[in-house]
Amino acid sequence: PSDAGGPPGLPGALDGPRLAAAAAEYGTPLWAYDAGTIRGQIDRLRRFDVIRYAQKACSNLHILRLMREEGVHVDAVSEGEIERALAAGYQVGGADEPIVFTADLLNRSTLRRVVELGIPVNAGSPQMLDQIGRAAPGHPVWIRINPGFGHGHSRKTNTGGEHSKHGIWHEHLQESLALVDRYGLDLVGLHMHIGSGVDYGHLESVCETMLKQARLADRDIRAISAGGGLSVPYAPGDREIDTDRYFDLWDAVRRELVSHLGHPVRLEIEPGRFLVAGSGVLAAEVRAQKPMGSNYFVLVDAGFNDLMRPAMYGSNHRVSVLGADGAFRDADARDTVLAGPLCESGDVFTQVEGGDVEPVPLPRTEIGDLVVFHDTGAYGASMSSNYNSRPLIPEVLVDGAETRLIRRRQTVAELLAPELDAQPGSRAAF
Ligand code: LLP
Repeated sequence: PSDAGGPPGLPGALDGPRLAAAAAEYGTPLWAYDAGTIRGQIDRLRRFDVIRYAQKACSNLHILRLMREEGVHVDAVSEGEIERALAAGYQVGGADEPIVFTADLLNRSTLRRVVELGIPVNAGSPQMLDQIGRAAPGHPVWIRINPGFGHGHSRKTNTGGEHSKHGIWHEHLQESLALVDRYGLDLVGLHMHIGSGVDYGHLESVCETMLKQARLADRDIRAISAGGGLSVPYAPGDREIDTDRYFDLWDAVRRELVSHLGHPVRLEIEPGRFLVAGSGVLAAEVRAQKPMGSNYFVLVDAGFNDLMRPAMYGSNHRVSVLGADGAFRDADARDTVLAGPLCESGDVFTQVEGGDVEPVPLPRTEIGDLVVFHDTGAYGASMSSNYNSRPLIPEVLVDGAETRLIRRRQTVAELLAPELDAQPGSRAAF
């Protein structure tokens, strides 16, 4: 992602003409990702022993395959994400666990599946330890600790402290270890993730808390995880994270533990957003434009069912406008409210948390132009829904000179099938 001012550029090998060509071929709205940008972000974290991709950020199988080919491991938070990892070629087992399951609860079907596959479980509640222990004594587990404080780009993405449901409360570590002992569970390591889109003022306290908890645990752990949460520049002026400083602080924790335990300790990091946000854009077509009192609205064919972040968190993505020929427009900027096709007033991409619309300067658009929402590679496609019975939209991956369709558009028939097929007594099955 560019963090300079002015009209934002497209990532890597994705340029205006290629985006316009993909939109013409597959229709709009459309997600497009640049593989080289993802590889570049991976390389910035190579000093960590394990980069474990939080696939919730963008779980397309082809993105997961790219991650696997780059030696990146994966985190899964649902049975569906486990199946995605397997379908992308991740193996189960091996010294540093290519797939780990992280959650605050285990539903019955997921419990069966992690036991069957032997996938390590990162436990976010004592009940998870109890349930996995009963089902599979000796199973590998991590303990996710809620350190009592957290931070996020929105209150909704702060995952630490007493207002958050996540992790095992730091004062309950000993009870959790007692469960580990009761069932002879194999404690792999300790994990902490205080939120998504964090500022780095918290980093030192997180590291200190990890060290303190690891000492209190007094177990022969073989790994620690720094969690995810690394922020990316979304707005002009946002700074890039200093990944070397980030690593150095965590490495100091690891070194202390190594000298205490007398054997190597694996240092993991678990980012989602950092790896993919800047690689992706959403392209939508301008279909209507109208003054409404003092506001000027441009309506595009993508809605919050496609890109939910603005409606959910008041997150504003940088936008730019491409003519159908693939050239950026930059003339006659005017304050514009950008909105979608859904039947709700909240279907606005330029809004602040709480829902007030916030016009942004946008070059003059014509019907048929593409509005490009930048830095939407993370929590874009993966948070889309079928609201208003709108099928999920296509995704393309640009890799060097190649543009590949990596998800075709869903059909309306696929939306209707589970209702047409419903039989009394039928159950969901994977
Ligand atoms: N690890 C755990 C345990 C997590 O819960 C998450 C994110 C991550 C890692 C990855 O966090 P990241 O590196 O991507 O910040 N939908 C929101 C973000 C929700 C994050 C949920 N958990 C958004 O669009 O900003």
